[in-house]
Amino acid sequence: MENDEESYNFCKNLPKIELHAHLNGSLSASILQKLGCSSEDILGYQKLTQQVFAQEKRLQECFSLFKIAHNSTNNRKAVYEATKYVVEEFRADNVIYLELRTTPRREENMTKIDYIEAVVKGIQDAQEGIITKLLLSIDRGHDLKTSEESMDAIIKMKKKYPSIIKGVDFCGNPNVGSFNCSLFKQARDNGLFVTLHCAEVKNNSEVDQILRFEPDRIGHGTFIHPKYGGFQEGWTLYKQKIIPLECCLTSNVLCGTVQCYKEHHLQEWIKNSLPFSLCTDDKGVFGISLSKELALAKKYFELSREHLWKITYDTVDYSFASNEEKKTLKEILEKWKLKNLF
Ligand code: IMP
Ligand code: ZN
Repeated sequence: MENDEESYNFCKNLPKIELHAHLNGSLSASILQKLGCSSEDILGYQKLTQQVFAQEKRLQECFSLFKIAHNSTNNRKAVYEATKYVVEEFRADNVIYLELRTTPRREENMTKIDYIEAVVKGIQDAQEGIITKLLLSIDRGHDLKTSEESMDAIIKMKKKYPSIIKGVDFCGNPNVGSFNCSLFKQARDNGLFVTLHCAEVKNNSEVDQILRFEPDRIGHGTFIHPKYGGFQEGWTLYKQKIIPLECCLTSNVLCGTVQCYKEHHLQEWIKNSLPFSLCTDDKGVFGISLSKELALAKKYFELSREHLWKITYDTVDYSFASNEEKKTLKEILEKWKLKNLF
């Protein structure tokens, strides 16, 4: 049996694929500092984070934390730099393919188009040793007019940067708003992949709607299986559709939607050989890395090194990369396996 350190070192060394990372949730203390946040503000942010995760209703409160990150990315230069730093941190964790997602935001001196341009430029300027794609998010708390405006901007920018902007995401506080099928159909009709946060809280009718929409991937998928607060029809439907799951272990545990790592619904995916990938969600807010998440999955679900490698390898297929890029990523992983697993 290997110890935690050996396990972490293996996970760190493994070339990884990250499919679910929110830009502003990924800002680490060191990035916030580089963006000009004072040490006092950063300390305050860290204290607040600890307080939020110690509370009963922490999922609800968690969304207030993003305001602090948003304050430090309220202009084009900061958005550009934040993107570059985040990509570089993933690269330093040995992530070779990253799908970064973010909600286009309008600020005093920045339109949503400016925001997207700044993120794209940040991605373009941090291409060394990593392939990064961009998914643009629709916040479920926004009204229809705002969401439609965002979708127009997203579609326009997808046409301008087709090899970087690959998809749309549906995120935000799961206790507010609702899924709008026709909005996401518009995205799909315009060649965008669709990934949707789904069942982060109990909402059987929305789970049913989302699964029938058949997105390319879903995020979290917590309240689907009846054993984890879901419902039998939902789980049966999921097993018919077989949509890859973006699994965010620490995010779910810290937000309190899952009791503990051992009790995570991921075990149903493992037991039933259903498709999933391991992701960070908000590595800055949760103080984690993708390597740490892999090591946690290895520990709590007793996965072998080969199994962890295979999860990573299969994740390539769930990504929104081009076929050529997928081939390259698989070759990297195959070579790595020959050198490190035999
Ligand atoms: P941004 O889109 O780059 O500004 O990243 C932060 C945003 O991501 C938050 O304001 C939320 O809307 C969204 N987000 C981050 N984590 C979660 C989650 O676990 N569930 C739903 N939305 C999330
Ligand atoms: Zn998320």
